Amino acid sequence: MTAAITFEDVHQSYRGPDQAVLRGVDLTIEEGDFCIILGRSGMGKSTLLRCVNGLVQPYQGTVTVAGRQVSRHKSTLRGIRRRTGVIFQGYNLVNRLTALQNVLCGMLPDLPGYRALLGAFTAAEIERGLALLRDVGLENRADQRVDQLSGGQKQRVGIARVLAQEPTIILADEPVASLDPVTSEDILSRLRSISREKGITVVISLHQIEYARSYGERIIALLDGRLAIDTRGSELSPEHIDRIYGLSPERARG
Ligand SMILES: Nc1ncnc2c1ncn2[C@@H]1O[C@H](COP(=O)(O)OP(=O)(O)OP(=O)(O)O)[C@@H](O)[C@H]1O
Ligand SMILES: [Mg+2]
Repeated sequence: MTAAITFEDVHQSYRGPDQAVLRGVDLTIEEGDFCIILGRSGMGKSTLLRCVNGLVQPYQGTVTVAGRQVSRHKSTLRGIRRRTGVIFQGYNLVNRLTALQNVLCGMLPDLPGYRALLGAFTAAEIERGLALLRDVGLENRADQRVDQLSGGQKQRVGIARVLAQEPTIILADEPVASLDPVTSEDILSRLRSISREKGITVVISLHQIEYARSYGERIIALLDGRLAIDTRGSELSPEHIDRIYGLSPERARG
């Protein structure tokens, strides 16, 4: 198997090394992995995801994406971000645009600047955008402004937009935190199918243990700045849960 993302002894802090959020994370995510990150609030799940596309830079250690070390180098970052799609809890769609226009925005990094500015897309690009909306069951909403859609529909537009980017990696930071249980499961199973069918590496942070258990082909958990658990969803035990969410750090450490 080939590594999609590798963390080697990654230390990251927003406020100096004595308040490090990540304190020596070692982790290899293989190509095509469907990986869920658990951890109490503030344990660094979002930080870990941001290290992958270089939004935050570790002060020690290295993060490697598809064989390229994430650095501050602009062209490296552009290359990594081009192939790394992001799905957000708050959808991050452009509200005044339609569902189709939002999906087409996912193709923008590949379009010459003037065409992006004019919003001029070819018939083939529009057809591809419509096909992506069809894949998420929203072909009949293509021309509707996204601020008129439900949360679940918005997140499906978010998925179609990310696929328009033709990513090799999808990072999703709490993608179902604002959704009801049925819609949440719909979104998670779509992401898992995408990973299986297209071989895309998917890394998702979640707070819902039951979803992690049923969808996580691999579950990792952060505790006190390090990787505390690395297991299969089906093998996530009460001891694991106690360790991740235990009330006192002493108890959590077991
Ligand atoms: N931009 C920032 N500036 C300063 N500190 C930050 C910043 N982002 C996060 N932090 C701090 O880093 C720590 C880890 O935050 P992070 O958002 O990665 O945690 P998380 O596990 O994603 O939490 P949650 O489950 O609440 O989303 C927290 O203590 C947080 O306050
Ligand atoms: Mg977070």
